[in-house]
Amino acid sequence: MMTVLRRVAIEDKDWVFDTDNSQSLLLAAQAAGIRLPSSCRNGTCRTCLCQLAGGSVRYLIEWPGLSLDEKREGYILPCVALAESDLVLRVPAARRIE
Ligand code: FES
Repeated sequence: MMTVLRRVAIEDKDWVFDTDNSQSLLLAAQAAGIRLPSSCRNGTCRTCLCQLAGGSVRYLIEWPGLSLDEKREGYILPCVALAESDLVLRVPAARRIE
């Protein structure tokens, strides 16, 4: 099967990484040296909650801990999300891993 690479940018920072969706956005970011807030990493605690400034995602689990309103407003849980398109993430708390 052909691997599709999606490009993910962090809004207001000069950081981008690619993902082939073999792992969650959280782990793909980490592999690229970018730390996003996280705790449970299974879609329940909402520590990683952030907003999409562009693009769309799908989920590794059936019921990510998001309300319908939050979904409509573009909130996602990157620990259980995969990119459906190129993305722009709004994560002011993102940090470079030293
Ligand atoms: S780290 Fe807990 S919901 Fe994402």
